[in-house]
Amino acid sequence: MKSGATNPPEVSRKTMIDSLMANFAIQFGDTRNVQIAMAPGRVNLMGDHTDHNDGFVLPMTVDRGVYVALRKRADRTVRVYSVRYDEMIESPLDQFQVTKAGGWPSYVLGVVEELRLRGLISSGFEAVVDGDLNLGAGLSSSAALEVATATALQHLIGFSLEPVEMVKLCQHVEHRYANVLCGIMDQFASRIGRKGHALFLDCRSLEYKHIPLALGDHRIVIVSSGVERSLAASAYNIRRAECQEAVNHFSKVDENVIALRDVSADMFEAHCGELPSNVRQRCRHVIAENQRVLDAADMLASAELAGFGSLMSASHQSLRDDFEVSCPELDMLVELALQTDGVLGARMTGAGFGGCTVSLVHKDAVAALTETLNTEYPARFDLTPGVFVLQGNLEAGPLG
Ligand code: GLA
Repeated sequence: MKSGATNPPEVSRKTMIDSLMANFAIQFGDTRNVQIAMAPGRVNLMGDHTDHNDGFVLPMTVDRGVYVALRKRADRTVRVYSVRYDEMIESPLDQFQVTKAGGWPSYVLGVVEELRLRGLISSGFEAVVDGDLNLGAGLSSSAALEVATATALQHLIGFSLEPVEMVKLCQHVEHRYANVLCGIMDQFASRIGRKGHALFLDCRSLEYKHIPLALGDHRIVIVSSGVERSLAASAYNIRRAECQEAVNHFSKVDENVIALRDVSADMFEAHCGELPSNVRQRCRHVIAENQRVLDAADMLASAELAGFGSLMSASHQSLRDDFEVSCPELDMLVELALQTDGVLGARMTGAGFGGCTVSLVHKDAVAALTETLNTEYPARFDLTPGVFVLQGNLEAGPLG
């Protein structure tokens, strides 16, 4: 049976650092002058497929991430070893070869190349990468890898790069080296998300607000479906094109429309009739989802958790029926969660087509939910779910 619980076992930060250093010594001889940085993955609480429409999002970092240990070299060679893939890559700093788009080296070397092109890095280095995020589960392990690499290099070399500029650089890496035209949410959450807070972000102005996670007796539960997001890159780009088609249409109605963010509910009702039904649905999702983010941010700030939970469930329906990025496995995980007493809301999270769900669950209901998922989900699909109850969350930065 395929498992959604392919996460490496939860390890303490100290164990992770010890193992990173041990691997560094094996690969590169010793650990003198090594610097380490970490960047967390993210889970999105509200607002999916709104970031690439200049809209609003409400993600938070998780309690797992990607760690990079590195040290300068006297020459201009870059050597990086991935513990998870047991693979070493080597590249001259000035002759970067685009490796397989979306493979782990493309994120690391993409960051290195973009820093070099901006004149921020001019010496080679050696590095070891490891982490405790479930790769391909939709918790933004690639954004965490980009941000951890950039943060570790910044700490090592000391160049100046504002956090938001680092976010943009990492997003550009995803576009250019992984061929995914992603929005800015994942890199933003990983770099700028703060412990104990969710992050409200306006993806147009890039203004943001840290909202304290006053969850009381409730917990954030992430469930990995075990369905890898293999379709995600191409389907994601298709969704972006559909949104652009809607923008082209509405910009003829009002020249101020440059993204779906600018289409009001009234404008949509008055002028959606001429759109093909798929484009109409995409548009309807984005308009409603943006409003849900604004409402959810207010509700979180005032600890109206029941209302927040209802919005999560409404968001799932919209992603399933209008944006059409869910799948039967995610739908079932959400359904099972909503049938459990003490679950205030549940939704798929991230790009879709597999990956994870996120639920807001009373602490006394976590055991029952886990039991239901572990029994019912494998009975229907040949998969076991990976259930993770968030134990706090992390923020990016150098360690030690
Ligand atoms: C992926 C992208 C993000 C965002 C989500 C969907 O995670 O990287 O930019 O678009 O999908 O909300």
